[in-house]
Amino acid sequence: MADFSQQLAQRANTINMNAGPSPLPDAALLTAAASLLSYPDTPGMGIAEISHRSSAFDQVVANANKDLRQLLDIPDNYHVLWMQGGGLTQFAATVLNLAAWYRTKHQLTADDDVEGWYAVTGSWSKKAAEEGTRMGVTARTVFDGKKHGKDNKFTSIAPVDAWDVPQLEENSRKPAFIYYCDNETVDGVEFGAPDSDSAFPFDKFDPAIPVVADMSSNFLSRPVDVSKYGIIYAGAQKNLGPAGVTLVIVRDDLLVDLDEAVKYGAGRVPSMLSYKNMADTNSMFNTPPTFTIYVCSLVLRSLLESPPLPLSSPDARPLSPLSDFADQKSALVYSELDASEGFYIGTADKEARSRMNVTFRLPTGGEPLEKAFVKEASERGIKGVNGHRSVGGIRTSIYNAVTLDDVKKLVAFMREFRDKNAHA
Ligand SMILES: Cc1ncc(COP(=O)(O)O)c(C=O)c1O
Repeated sequence: MADFSQQLAQRANTINMNAGPSPLPDAALLTAAASLLSYPDTPGMGIAEISHRSSAFDQVVANANKDLRQLLDIPDNYHVLWMQGGGLTQFAATVLNLAAWYRTKHQLTADDDVEGWYAVTGSWSKKAAEEGTRMGVTARTVFDGKKHGKDNKFTSIAPVDAWDVPQLEENSRKPAFIYYCDNETVDGVEFGAPDSDSAFPFDKFDPAIPVVADMSSNFLSRPVDVSKYGIIYAGAQKNLGPAGVTLVIVRDDLLVDLDEAVKYGAGRVPSMLSYKNMADTNSMFNTPPTFTIYVCSLVLRSLLESPPLPLSSPDARPLSPLSDFADQKSALVYSELDASEGFYIGTADKEARSRMNVTFRLPTGGEPLEKAFVKEASERGIKGVNGHRSVGGIRTSIYNAVTLDDVKKLVAFMREFRDKNAHA
C-alpha cells in the first residue's frame, strides 16, 4: 500500500474553499486511490480499467443508486440517471426533453410555440434561460432577481407574490415547465430551507407544471421533497464527487420518445441527451465516466455511514445532519460579516443567503484590499476564496467536505485581517 502520509499532511494544512471542483472526503479519496490500482472485486485490475458492462461496475451503480435513493428518499416513480456534459448540458437537455414531452402530450404541431418559465435569481439561471431560448422555447422570466436586487445585482429572492407570473385562463396553454436554480453559486443566493420565508415557492403554481431544479451547488446539503419536482439535476463536482458526471432525477411520466415527438413539431435531439434512453439503459447508453461514478458512490456511502453530526432523532431524514452542519458552518462566517461594522459586506440579502457559497466585499479598501485578502488567505493555506471572475469580490465555498475546524480557521483569519486593515 502506498504511503500517502505526506499528501494527507498537506491536505490537513489546507483549507480548500474552491467553488467547484471542490474538496472531497479523505476517506473516499484514499479508497479510490487504492481501487485505481486494484479494485477488490476485480483483483489485479483497477476500477478505471474494467468494463462498464461488467458485474463489478453494475454493482457500483446499483450501490450508488440505492444510497442516493435512501439519502434523498426518492420515490419509486423517479429515475436516477448519470449523465455527461455537466450542468450546462442540462440547461439544454431539460428543455429539449420537456418541450418534447409537452408537444407529445398536447399533440402540437411545428407551428405551436412552447413556453418555459424561468425564475432568474442569479448567473446560472440566467444562462439557463438564455439556453432555453436557443433550444427553441419561449423562455419567460417570471422573476428577475437583478431588477429586484440591490444595485441591479442578483442579491435577493422576492416572495412569489411579487413575481411576474401570468394569470392562466381556464383553457389556456400552460408552460411546459418552471425552472429555477436552488443555489446560485456565483452570486451566493439560495432558496430557503422548507420552513424559511424563501422556501420552495412553487407550491403556489399549478401542480401540473413540472418544476425543474438545478441543485448543482447545494445537492445533498439538506433534505429535499423530491415528489414536488419533475426534474432535479446536479453536476457532481461540488458535494457529490469529481467533475464528469451530472446526476439527474426525473419523474417517470416525463420520459418521452424524442423521435416520436418530431411528429409534434419537436426538433431532432442527440440520443445522448434523451432521458428516456438513459433510463432505458440504466445510464449505460454509451461508456459512462466510470471512475467518477465510482468516487460518487464512495461519497454517497460516506454520507450515510459517517454523517458530520449525529442524527437528531431516529426518524430524522438522513440528510438532516448535513443541513444542520451547513447551517452551523455558514452561520459562523455570516456572523463575522455582520459583526465587522461594514469592513465586510455580504452581497446577498439576509433572507437569501447561501449556506454553500458565502459572497462578500471589502468596501473600505475595494479591489486592492480584496486582492490582499485572497493573497494572505492563500499564504495561510486558505485556498480558492476569490469571487467568480464575472462578479469579483470574495467567495468562500463551504461544501459538505469542508470541516467546522476549517471554517473556524477562516473566521479567525477574517478577524485578524480586519483588525490589521480596518483603520489602515
Ligand atoms: C448552479 C450551477 N449550475 C450550473 C453550473 C454549470 O456546470 P458545469 O460547469 O458542470 O457545466 C454550475 C457550475 O459551477 C453551477 O454552479
